[in-house]
Amino acid sequence: MEQLILRFMDYDDVPAVVAVCRKCFGKHVAPRKKYLDDTVSNWRYFYFVAELDGKIVACTGARVADWFEDYEDAKTDTAKIEIVAVDPDYHGQGIGTKLFTKLIDTLEERGVVGMALNVHPSNTPAIEFYEHFGFNYHEAPRPIITGRETALMTRIKCATN
Ligand SMILES: CC(C)(COP(=O)(O)OP(=O)(O)OC[C@H]1O[C@@H](n2cnc3c(N)ncnc32)[C@H](O)[C@@H]1OP(=O)(O)O)[C@@H](O)C(=O)NCCC(=O)NCCS
Repeated sequence: MEQLILRFMDYDDVPAVVAVCRKCFGKHVAPRKKYLDDTVSNWRYFYFVAELDGKIVACTGARVADWFEDYEDAKTDTAKIEIVAVDPDYHGQGIGTKLFTKLIDTLEERGVVGMALNVHPSNTPAIEFYEHFGFNYHEAPRPIITGRETALMTRIKCATN
């Protein structure tokens, strides 16, 4: 029987996470290994992986506070979702839902009430996915560079969430 483990990302996971992101977004958009390495031990970042029978098949991560904020006076009640990526070979199996639930729950346990993310307006599966989690879609402004449209989705924690 297949065993799905959801856990914090570790240094050893980073190459596999880069590979999953490259499969999802392509080489030029996927995060660099160095960036992901830096998230592992940094209090600002919450990155999780889904491991199916020992194989990394998905990753999601968020950042609280900006890079210039010190730990003591950082604003940690909002978070920017940076990555949600499920290996295309494993789409539609509920893995994204389970992993993203883990991220959202963890952020809320740490006091995050507001979350935001960027999504391409044509990425209907992702938009529907985020709407399931209570994210609201905001119309994309006209991009500075044609083809670089980016819509914003936000979620504010409320009693019904
Ligand atoms: C969006 C994504 C994370 C969903 O992960 P997943 O594991 O496939 O999703 P789940 O199996 O948990 O499905 C949850 C919901 O997502 C949506 N969804 C997932 N795959 C979909 C597809 N191929 N077409 C349409 N909707 C889809 C559906 O609303 C689905 O709900 P349903 O099962 O009730 O229909 C995944 O498709 C992915 O990694 N896409 C590529 C990377 C990407 O675009 N990330 C977001 C960048 S902003």
